[in-house]
Amino acid sequence: MSKIATSLSHVFTALDRSSATALHRQLYNQLRDAILSGRLSAGTRLPSTRELAGELALARNTVLNAFDQLYAEGYLARRVGDGTYVSTELPDDLLRVKRVKDVRRQSQRNGRALSKWGRAVSTISVSPGNYLGPPKPFRTGTPALDAFPYKLWGRLLTQRWKESARAIVPYGDSAGYLPLRQAIASYLSTTRGVRCSAEHVIITCGSLHALEIVARVILEPGDSAWIEDPGFLGARAALNAAGATLIPVPVDADGLNLASGIARCANPRLIYVTPSHQYPLGMTLSLSRRLELLRFAGKTGAWIVEDDYDSEFRYLGQPLAALQGLDTEQRVIYVGTFSKVLFPSARLGYIISPPDLVEAFVRARSVGGHQSQTLDQAVLADFISAGHFARHIRKMRKLYAERQHVLLKAARSELKGLLDLKPSNSGMHLIGWLPEGVDDSAASRAALAGDVEVTPLSAYCIEPPKSGALRLGYTGYTSRQIWNATRQLAKALSTNSIKQSA
Ligand SMILES: Cc1ncc(COP(=O)(O)O)c(C=O)c1O
Repeated sequence: MSKIATSLSHVFTALDRSSATALHRQLYNQLRDAILSGRLSAGTRLPSTRELAGELALARNTVLNAFDQLYAEGYLARRVGDGTYVSTELPDDLLRVKRVKDVRRQSQRNGRALSKWGRAVSTISVSPGNYLGPPKPFRTGTPALDAFPYKLWGRLLTQRWKESARAIVPYGDSAGYLPLRQAIASYLSTTRGVRCSAEHVIITCGSLHALEIVARVILEPGDSAWIEDPGFLGARAALNAAGATLIPVPVDADGLNLASGIARCANPRLIYVTPSHQYPLGMTLSLSRRLELLRFAGKTGAWIVEDDYDSEFRYLGQPLAALQGLDTEQRVIYVGTFSKVLFPSARLGYIISPPDLVEAFVRARSVGGHQSQTLDQAVLADFISAGHFARHIRKMRKLYAERQHVLLKAARSELKGLLDLKPSNSGMHLIGWLPEGVDDSAASRAALAGDVEVTPLSAYCIEPPKSGALRLGYTGYTSRQIWNATRQLAKALSTNSIKQSA
């Protein structure tokens, strides 16, 4: 027996007579939604158009118009002499909508609609805070966006489009645009001692993407992976998503503590390191540790992932060449990014792969979105080959050294007894140590309430750190911003709640 709807008041919200959407269209939308959501079930008999017009205080024509559209689309059916019904033969797209809704609801309830990978990533975070919107002090990982050569970049962009739009628009090589791969190979060989040629370079959407590809290609779920502790959350996320068993390895003044790693897991499949500038504490992996690590990887067959994320910014002395350049066994997968040297949303990074993994990485890059935008890659290749890149880095190195100096000066003046900021020969942030016993998460929350962004060291740790510390990025901010934010931070760290946490 079919249901009879004597009134449809439960189906409608008030129609908006001042809306630009015609009343018959609003009526159509509401009836259609009611049918799609099941509030009006298949086979339900509707009131006559005259009754409905009366109930809703509409002209009968308005109702007739809405019904006509619903008949035409198959949501309603007429039975001669018996009125209008919700169709029992619902159109395909309606059923599709229902199925999608069911799947979503089911996954919300018990997670079973998601794959293992889907469930893993839905609980993973790649950063400890908010990295969206205009950066404010002391958000980390932010280059000097006030000093980027915007005009020059725009000129190169226009020129490249004018000269070779037709060559750029078709699909390109999944490994990346060849002139860019050549430029990267040449840059890394000369400045970082990396042993590679263009055929080993795979262009990715930043280094986080590179790490995700590497983890997926190398690891089986359950494989052990060493990770520096504290360490980069993005690397932790990529390894977790691939189902790895994470082995936190402590760092000391010489970087990754190999002996400690071996004691915890003597046979890791992958080792993630930031040898040039440990993330986030900033030490350099010593030469003896580098050689030891390479020997260990050669012996055990582990892959080393070297994340060289900000090595361009060294302010004193000569940088140690990349670990990859010392590797005679081809166990090192080198990962780099343009997020720090250009700007974060460039989303261009790269993998320098050992020869026997190139094919798998290129295929994985192709499965995960085919390629990066050719136009962006071509402009960057032009930027590098015309010498602008090297010039920009030189300029930023000088500017960042000055900005670090300003931060240290401001901290000496404003943060005495509240935060002990250590200078650094390299990188884009400083670590400030809190007085003993002060909880760094509480300190970071208090700072945020005062509109200053600082991330607590504990956010990067798997095992709780011995002391609380805050991470302050300085490269993206003017002297004035740095001084103002330092004063704000001093105010936040002087509050009673922070002192009481000590
Ligand atoms: C250690 C480390 N690696 C890599 C990156 C850069 O990631 P992406 O190239 O995906 O922007 C960051 C960014 O903060 C980082 O801290």
